[in-house]
Amino acid sequence: MDRFPTRLSVIVTLPAVLLLGACNLTHKEAATTGGGDSAAVPVDAQLTTKERLGKLLFFEKRLSTPPGQACANCHAPQVAFADPETELPVSRGAIPGRYGSRNDMTVSYAAFIPPLHRDEEAGLWEGGLFWDGRVNSLAEQAQGPPLNPLEMANPHTSAIAETLRGLSYAALFTEVYGAGALDDPTQAYAHMADAIAAYERTAEVSPFSSKYDYWLRGEVELSEQELRGLRLFEAEDKGNCAACHPSRPSEDGSPPMFTDFSYDNLGTPRNPENPFYSLPAELNPDGFGFVDLGLGGTLKDPSQNGKFRVPTLRNVAVTPPYMHNGVFKTLFATVSFYNTRDVAGWPAPEVAENVNREELGNLGLTSPEVEDLVAFLRTLTDGWQASNSAR
Ligand code: HEC
Ligand code: HEC
Repeated sequence: MDRFPTRLSVIVTLPAVLLLGACNLTHKEAATTGGGDSAAVPVDAQLTTKERLGKLLFFEKRLSTPPGQACANCHAPQVAFADPETELPVSRGAIPGRYGSRNDMTVSYAAFIPPLHRDEEAGLWEGGLFWDGRVNSLAEQAQGPPLNPLEMANPHTSAIAETLRGLSYAALFTEVYGAGALDDPTQAYAHMADAIAAYERTAEVSPFSSKYDYWLRGEVELSEQELRGLRLFEAEDKGNCAACHPSRPSEDGSPPMFTDFSYDNLGTPRNPENPFYSLPAELNPDGFGFVDLGLGGTLKDPSQNGKFRVPTLRNVAVTPPYMHNGVFKTLFATVSFYNTRDVAGWPAPEVAENVNREELGNLGLTSPEVEDLVAFLRTLTDGWQASNSAR
């Protein structure tokens, strides 16, 4: 058992966390209900009006056609705003039988992703949202899913604007964006996305409340195994994970993001269980021949084919499956792939060119060392103090 010498002082400085003792909600729900209120989309007094509007929209199930699918269906607060459905490698669409081609991502910490740009010094592409960096801001991103036929499947912005005008809280749009805010469909849609983005930038979505964050602040100790995992994570001659998933605060003291926002082809295998392969030709013209080119598709540059943005590892323990196509179901399998890709007969890469052969593939870690790494990854789950004080 770990010792929690500073638990009391931590709780005193985090009032939202205190609410948890009183009810069975997860810490994020507790932080937003104002305590005990069981409304589905609770109102948080700490949010600005725009953020509150964005939050209502993020949880709004009427925003899909047919109704029933909110952003939060695929990005649920209890699993760090990722898809709570873990049986499938990808997400279900609002229309039954439709699936996206990629594994869902966590929205937590997406607010810190810079726009796609080329770092000339490093000679690398960095930033951009989605696995392939194809959009540059949260507001731009939020305009994707509602019109995506494989996701919320609305036919056009006019239909969305009409839905927005019919919402019980439509008056909030006027309050935030002025009279007539929902009159023009394009404007209405842009306001919707802007408000959602404002909510996604709040501390409620990126709380920095993992055990590791507490440890960095000197407020808790890591177990021996977690510390061994951290050392392996950082050692260049061992896991070398921090080379792409930085684990230390930056020079200005801001907490680590566990991604350098760059792109790599790790040689991730195809996922034969991806239901996208069997969609009808009008939704997936390539059928089983579908190959996800990642950044190469975004840039139309074959030298970037197969590269995906290094994802944050914050909350990774609660967001299975793993990789852009969800091919690995557990962290142990994911880390084992890094460890033995080149020596243990793993399936061939989905994209054979541009595979990173220098930084991974034969790490020489023992099985207990892989477990140590996984134990460390488990310290990155938000709500640590809350879940421990609730026990
Ligand atoms: C049907 C499930 C589904 C719905 C509904 C959905 N998303 Fe997503 N979301 C995904 C998937 C899958 C990805 C990764 C897709 C890709 O890379 O092409 C993603 C990616 C994202 C990202 C990018 C994160 C990153 O690290 O780059 C953000 C932000 C996001 N979604 C927010 C939203 C918002 C806001 C809504 C509602 C307007 C929404 N999503 C609706 C499945 C969904
Ligand atoms: C060369 C850069 C690089 C190094 C080194 C690296 N990673 Fe990654 N990591 C990535 C990229 C890129 C992805 C996404 C790949 C994909 O989807 O095909 C990823 C994905 C992951 C995922 C899946 C996350 C998710 O949300 O699906 C985990 C877990 C992970 N890495 C852990 C590690 C660990 C542990 C190490 C050290 C043993 C490590 N990584 C080393 C670049 C790197």
